[in-house]
Amino acid sequence: MKHLLKLMDLSAKEITEILNTADQLKYEKKNGIPHHLLTGKTLGLIFAKSSTRTRVSFEVGMFDLGGMSLFLSARDLQIGRGEPVRDTARVLSRYLDGIMIRTFDQKEVESLAEFGTIPVINGLTDYCHPCQVLADLMTIREYKGATEGLKLCYVGDGNNMTNSLIVGGIKLGMEVSVACPKGYEPDADIMKWAHESGRFSCSPDVLEMAAGADVLYTDVWASMGQEAEAEERKKVFKDYQINDKTMKAAKSDAMVLHCLPAHREEEITAKVFEEHSREIFDEAENRLHAQKAVLVKCML
Ligand code: CP
Ligand code: NVA
Repeated sequence: MKHLLKLMDLSAKEITEILNTADQLKYEKKNGIPHHLLTGKTLGLIFAKSSTRTRVSFEVGMFDLGGMSLFLSARDLQIGRGEPVRDTARVLSRYLDGIMIRTFDQKEVESLAEFGTIPVINGLTDYCHPCQVLADLMTIREYKGATEGLKLCYVGDGNNMTNSLIVGGIKLGMEVSVACPKGYEPDADIMKWAHESGRFSCSPDVLEMAAGADVLYTDVWASMGQEAEAEERKKVFKDYQINDKTMKAAKSDAMVLHCLPAHREEEITAKVFEEHSREIFDEAENRLHAQKAVLVKCML
C-alpha cells in the first residue's frame, strides 16, 4: 500500500490486513514487546485543522516504531501563504519518508500524493476520515468478534465520518444505515456505490434506521470549518441524537461509538455517552494502534 487517501482505494483484504497488524501491534505494546519497524524514518504531520487524537496517535506511533515525527502547522508553513501544494509535495519528499495531512479539501491530499514521491496519509478532510474508521472497525472486531453481518447505524450529519463509515463498513461485510435530515446526506457517489451492495439504507427516520443495530455511531452536528452554521445546525439536527429511545430501537447489546470530540446533549446524551464510555475510549485508544498499522503498511 503506497498511500492512505480514502478507504475506497483499499480492498477488503487490505483493510483486514491493516486491522490484523493493528491487533498485533496493540498486543506487543501491551506486553512491552518493542517493534521498531520504522527506525530512522521521519513523518511530517501537516495540520490545517485542530486535533487531539490524530496528532498524538501519529506522534506517539512514530516514536513507538523507532522513527520520528515533525508537527507542521499549516498556518506556519508556506503552504498557508499560498505556496502551491505541488511544490510543497516535491520539497517535503526530499526531507521526509512520509506525510500525514489533515486539511479541508480532499484534492489537496490527492495532489500531495500525485506530486510527491513519499507515502501520504489522510488524517481527515471534509470528504473523509479513513484513519478514524480503521480504528472503529478494529474496535467493532474486538467487541463483536467480527464485522460480517453486523448492522451499523450512523445518526447525524452525513459528513466525512459518515462517508468513511459507509465505505469501511460495507467493504467489511456490514449492513450500514444512515439517519440524517434531508439535505444533509452523505456523498452522493458513495451512497450510489453503497446501494449497489444491497446492504445500505438512508432515511430521515432515526428509529427506523436504528432498528436492530449492533453498533450505533454519531459525530458532531457541525464539523470543523462549519462553525458559522453551528446555531442553524442545532435546530436542523435536534432530533438526530443517540439517546435512550435510539438505544431501545437497537439490539439490547448494541455498542455505541463516537469519533470524539463529543457534544453532550447534542448528538448524544451524557447518560448514553457514560454508559458506553468503555467502548468509546477503547475506540480512541485504538487510533494509536490502527495508525501505527497504517504507518507500517505505507512506510516499511
Ligand atoms: N477523532 C479525531 O480525529 O480526533 P481529533 O480531531 O482530536 O484528531
Ligand atoms: N466531523 C468531524 C470529525 C472530527 C474528528 C469534523 O470534521 O470536525
